Amino acid sequence: MPEAADKLMRENMSKNLIDQDEYPMTQILHERCVSILADLWHAPSSHGAIGTATTGSSEAIQLGGLAMKRIWQEKRKAAGKSIHEPGPNVVMGSNAQVALEKFARYFEVECRLVPVTAESKYRMDPKRAMEYVDENTIGVYVILGSTYTGHYEPVKEMADLLDEYEKQTGHNVPIHVDGASGGFIAPFATPKLEWDFKIPRVVSINTSGHKFGLSYVGVGWVIWRDKVHLPKDLIFELHYLGSIEYSFSLNFSRPAAPIIAQYFNLVHLGFDGYRRVALDDLKNARILSRALEKSEYYTVLSDIHRPVGTTGISSAVSKVIDEEDVENYEPGLPVVSFRFTDEFKEKYPDIQQKWIQILLRSRGWIVPNYELPPELDTVEILRVVVRESMSAVLIERLVADIVEITEDLMKQDSPAHALNTLSLHKPQQHHGKDHIGLEKGSASKPSGTYAKPC
Ligand SMILES: Cc1ncc(COP(=O)(O)O)c(C=O)c1O
Repeated sequence: MPEAADKLMRENMSKNLIDQDEYPMTQILHERCVSILADLWHAPSSHGAIGTATTGSSEAIQLGGLAMKRIWQEKRKAAGKSIHEPGPNVVMGSNAQVALEKFARYFEVECRLVPVTAESKYRMDPKRAMEYVDENTIGVYVILGSTYTGHYEPVKEMADLLDEYEKQTGHNVPIHVDGASGGFIAPFATPKLEWDFKIPRVVSINTSGHKFGLSYVGVGWVIWRDKVHLPKDLIFELHYLGSIEYSFSLNFSRPAAPIIAQYFNLVHLGFDGYRRVALDDLKNARILSRALEKSEYYTVLSDIHRPVGTTGISSAVSKVIDEEDVENYEPGLPVVSFRFTDEFKEKYPDIQQKWIQILLRSRGWIVPNYELPPELDTVEILRVVVRESMSAVLIERLVADIVEITEDLMKQDSPAHALNTLSLHKPQQHHGKDHIGLEKGSASKPSGTYAKPC
């Protein structure tokens, strides 16, 4: 963040957001942020909308889930039905970030993971998701966009199918959009895309201020389209330090500084500033994607560099259009995910993709090599998130490093190729304990899901 924001952070590092009586202005800035985001995401009325700052998207997702669970319970009780037999369930793609699965496990909601496939672009397929929805579904988490490939899940298509389902069954299943990253990209880069409160079925949205909100770590947001979607039962009226406050977050105390920094960004950058950053990020991500494809060593799985409607086709064979107009390209996060081409794997079967991660790390780049979710877990992807600081010059450097490293590995007699003889990938031994002091095997068993608890 700019120097002025650093100064604000330093000046406010002692302030606690909860001490509204002592620091009333922090609360006013907090309310303004809520109102700006509600407006940005097209809440029917920014006065009717309600929301709060959180530590990040994780807490925001828990709150969105809790509100949906409580509303489902209220409806069941009103209908004289049990809330325990059968219990509630929540539907999400198996590409979901761990925060979503945490909600299900911590708040005792059955987690229904919809398998993802290459055809569904490594994200939830709404039609398939409908096979998991029933009268006990508290809601569907739709991700904008997927952490691993940056693809946006189709919120509108999901909403249309749930509208149809409601017509047929009478069951109203709401949508919570996990806009951890996309909440600060889509409204600026692709404002015509339908994903937010313009869709009546979207009841709540979360985002991380510390991702593309461009603030320092420690701030996220959850907004409900209208107060009716946040059950009163979850709101506490506090008589504290001489004033009445309303609290509906998981934490009581919370540093005010990151929220002030977020407000600084909102007014300092404004719509045009955020749009400029988002467009630059996406343009640089397109340059990186094309360069990787051009090398012929890599296949790019993300689609933001492909003209609309040509998903999955190599950008080299698709028609080149106005580079500057983002509307010409598939919408998504400025994330580039890629893997070795099939030809490369066939020609160099002993070269492991994870070596690229390790060798890039030695040059200062952090490019994780992930396994895709179950059903696709034999596919590994490398992933680059393009942020503001990742300029075109740096992209060029990164491409040069990736190509150099790859070509070095291709030479059988290169020192890099000797990696396969090193036991680089053995888990580190910690005398039977991991870094937080847990005995081995004392954590819950892997769920077999993408976010493996450990
Ligand atoms: C899609 C998605 N949801 C939730 C989260 C959790 O966000 P936070 O780190 O702000 O809690 C992430 C973080 O990467 C994410 O990508």
